[in-house]
Amino acid sequence: MQNTLTKQRKQNQRQLAQSDHDPAQPLLHQRAPEIQDYDAVTAELPLGLSAEARKEMVRHLNQILADTMTLRDLYKKSHWQVSGPTFYQLHLLYDKHFGEQAELVDEIAERIQILGGISIAMAHDVAETTSIGRPPRGREEVPVQISRLLEAHGALIKETRCSARRAVELEDDGTNDLLVSDVLRTNEMQVWFLSEHLVDTPLVQAK
Ligand SMILES: [Fe+2]
Repeated sequence: MQNTLTKQRKQNQRQLAQSDHDPAQPLLHQRAPEIQDYDAVTAELPLGLSAEARKEMVRHLNQILADTMTLRDLYKKSHWQVSGPTFYQLHLLYDKHFGEQAELVDEIAERIQILGGISIAMAHDVAETTSIGRPPRGREEVPVQISRLLEAHGALIKETRCSARRAVELEDDGTNDLLVSDVLRTNEMQVWFLSEHLVDTPLVQAK
């Protein structure tokens, strides 16, 4: 690692020397050590919250973020791969829920940064962190798609409620508000819209 950085610095210096001759030359391929570790929070911020409290909430929020990103992607998978007589309505519904989850992802990630933490971002790291089970790459029937989505919502709702209560204990009202007003309520609403599709009502002839 150190060797790579030294090599990189030398390359940067070479490019800087080159740029003396060509001032329009962009300084490409730059690398440097991280300025903040993933697990660290900024020591002091004028938020009226201790670093310990912020660190704990960042940990909870990153779990919820990884699971929300996974649920968001599960919606897009379902949107693309849906089939059958309810194709059109589900294709649209899945994409609507995808958009709402994508908005939550941004709000949760920015809350983490507000608290002085580092939000998880890349698919590799999300895959290692999420508690939501991996679906197969192939196509599945609609009832299976919906069941997987509902299970993911169920897990997220449970951990969101837990973390929201912990936020109250730590006096982090902003995080509690985000978790209850946005994350929890959006997930509850989406559960309603999905679960009604698994009620076996007749389409043509009444039972
Ligand atoms: Fe689409």
